Amino acid sequence: MSETWPIAIRDGWHPLAALDELHGKPIGRRLLGTPIVLFRSEGKPVAMLDRCPHRALKLSDGRVRADTIACPYHGWRFGADGRCVEVPGSDAVPAVAVRVLPIEVRGGLIWACLAETPPPFPRLPTLLDDPTLDHFQWLVAPSQMRLLDAIENMLDASHPHYVHPWFLRGTKKRKAMRVELSLGPDGAEAIYHENARADGIMPRLLEGERTVSIGRYFPPTIGQLEFRTARGLSVSLTAIFAPEDNDLVRPYALFSTRKGIAPAWLKRWVLKAFNLPLLRQDQRVLADQVEALKDWGAVDFAIGPADLIGPTVWRLANSKPQAVEQRVTTLYL
Ligand code: FES
Ligand SMILES: [Fe+2]
Repeated sequence: MSETWPIAIRDGWHPLAALDELHGKPIGRRLLGTPIVLFRSEGKPVAMLDRCPHRALKLSDGRVRADTIACPYHGWRFGADGRCVEVPGSDAVPAVAVRVLPIEVRGGLIWACLAETPPPFPRLPTLLDDPTLDHFQWLVAPSQMRLLDAIENMLDASHPHYVHPWFLRGTKKRKAMRVELSLGPDGAEAIYHENARADGIMPRLLEGERTVSIGRYFPPTIGQLEFRTARGLSVSLTAIFAPEDNDLVRPYALFSTRKGIAPAWLKRWVLKAFNLPLLRQDQRVLADQVEALKDWGAVDFAIGPADLIGPTVWRLANSKPQAVEQRVTTLYL
């Protein structure tokens, strides 16, 4: 396991899988470099360390039998409390157990925590609970990126011109935009007053007249983008960044849209189709960042005038204080 995780990340709650991913077979995942197995016992998800106490085989390569998980090597079975309940071929059962992790199911995701004493569950964006919206998940594979830099990337308004040219914003003529920035110990919010027909390909096709776009950070690992027209929310994207390993992050993306614009299946399809190239472009630049940093080790980053939320991500994820601060600035986007 990495020695370098900030405590809020190391001891924090992170998603391991979507509830809908977990059926009759166990799932093997990683959390902060630790292999974890997920399975269902009496219908409920269970998460435990993915190591058989007998000879260290991966329990996730085994099978679920009668609400227990059976190791693929000699068949020892373990119950939802982690205790061994059967050694095939013997009446004796050794007093050994696999460590079970505390879990919570929120927002359709199974969250777990590696800390002995779990901290309070992180604040989730309220949009996720709004029954007037259509919600759906976008599950993507983990890729090479640094956790906090990935969160910053999602909330950074100054890279799309370069990394996603024409997708999100036109690149020829930038527009002056008033940005209201609020920072504080609970997170960060940047409200971009667009008040114009967005000129990127995606917003043109999907939204029309965009009034504001909002980026929010919920510590330690959640980012949210919200796009509004005069009629209200058009779409929001909440991403929870799960640290699987050093420089390996699995984002769990949750879209929320206003009901009734189009059938939910169509919105789901369109949003995934449009966002896939953006995801690939961001994955590429974040992997390039990891590679570039291999030559330099730990370096301090310069903070630029358009780096509105990134510094707050680093502060709060590292349990450093973030003073309450509100300011209005102009960016040309
Ligand atoms: S290694 Fe798991 S039962 Fe032997
Ligand atoms: Fe991006």
